[in-house]
Amino acid sequence: MQKLVVKGKKKLSGAIRISGSKNATLPILAASILNKKKIEINKVPIVKDVITMVELLKHIGSNIKFDLSKNKILIHNQNRKLKTTAPYKLLKTMRAGLIVLGPLLSKFKKAKVSLPGGCAIGSRPVDIHLFVLKKLGAKIKIKNGYILAETKKGLIGKRIRLPSISVGATENALIAASYAKGTTYLSNCACEPEIKDLTIFLKKMGIKIQWIGERKVKISGSHNLKSVSHTVMFDRIEAGTFVIAGALTGKKLKISGIDTKILKKEISVLKKMNVKLRVNKNDITILNSKNIKPVSISTQPYPGFPTDLQAQIMVLMTRANGISKIKENIFEKRFMHVPELNRMGAKIKISRDTSLVYGPQQLNGAEVMATDLRASVSLVLAGLAAEDETIINRVYHLDRGYEKLENKLRKCKANIFRSN
Ligand code: EPZ
Repeated sequence: MQKLVVKGKKKLSGAIRISGSKNATLPILAASILNKKKIEINKVPIVKDVITMVELLKHIGSNIKFDLSKNKILIHNQNRKLKTTAPYKLLKTMRAGLIVLGPLLSKFKKAKVSLPGGCAIGSRPVDIHLFVLKKLGAKIKIKNGYILAETKKGLIGKRIRLPSISVGATENALIAASYAKGTTYLSNCACEPEIKDLTIFLKKMGIKIQWIGERKVKISGSHNLKSVSHTVMFDRIEAGTFVIAGALTGKKLKISGIDTKILKKEISVLKKMNVKLRVNKNDITILNSKNIKPVSISTQPYPGFPTDLQAQIMVLMTRANGISKIKENIFEKRFMHVPELNRMGAKIKISRDTSLVYGPQQLNGAEVMATDLRASVSLVLAGLAAEDETIINRVYHLDRGYEKLENKLRKCKANIFRSN
């Protein structure tokens, strides 16, 4: 199994251009199931989760090509009859595969999709996904670890209030409603930027979609779809990760190819921590930041502080002069990185959904184990800040969601390399 070796305390300087968003690409790929016309998707990040989604679409018969040299995906299902089964072997490693359920059901009136199962950060239930599809007219059974869904007459638009905020369930609902008869009004939706990117893609395909409130959207279903070309938005979690890397060790680090109005909350938290930032519309420069201040944050659905940056900001908090607090409201087990950070000299105490981070603590290198995507990158950040050498095992977690991470960091003078 591959590992990453990081020699810490190197001052980062230079520039990093952010890749396309994994979490925008995945629902857009799922939505491609609805459309037989030509589809071109640009700025697709070459990460494991996207490759798995491409394999899943190939498995059901999609005519899909991923041109890795151009970060471009081409799909053309003109004369293709797609299968409607998404197997366990592909979903067990990538839960997001669940969002093919809505499009398969809406387009082909039936779908058999493996229950994705839990993961390191939580049990990851699917009840909200199923709630929405039933409201649209689906009959759903669970058998032998699979979701069996069908709708004899096709899905029909409805007024639906999601029982609680869910990114994936909102995406399943949006895509299913796009091919349903009539109009659907969804309320209490997640409104992450990646979901807005999905709605832009659906609109380009010819679906009439309108956000009529912060968490309300109106969709008029259509079968008359058009060929589409779309460039995926930037990966805001990758951007936040590198800004925190700069705050930890930076001399002068520029992060570009972003839209800073989407990062308002993260920027305000970092400024409260006394991180020196120069913020422009499409880039941020992190300057040498001393005297980091402690903060209290709680993770929330967008536009709140993202749970996907919780592990990363925790590393910065170990440098703060005082006690910082993180309340994790989204996932029940998203502190798996804490024991590993404590092995590197951090002083973090967990009590139920809250962690207290005592700072400042100088981290020191150690051999550590990644457990999930964002925990793994927090160990890389800790390695950059630590004295001596850090070895991060199970780096396949990292490869699920970060494109060329060590190359980007090496270009900014980090001493980091991959070894078998
Ligand atoms: C998406 O996961 C992201 N994944 C996650 O990013 C992100 O952490 C999460 O949204 C929250 O922002 C992708 O976009 C591929 P949810 P998702 O449904 O859709 C509960 C990463 O690091 N829930 O918004 O699975 C759920 O257990 C990944 O890139 C139900 O109870 O998240 C959680 O507590 C990790 N029933 C909360 O809602 C359901 O049917 C939010 O989950 C669905 C969810």
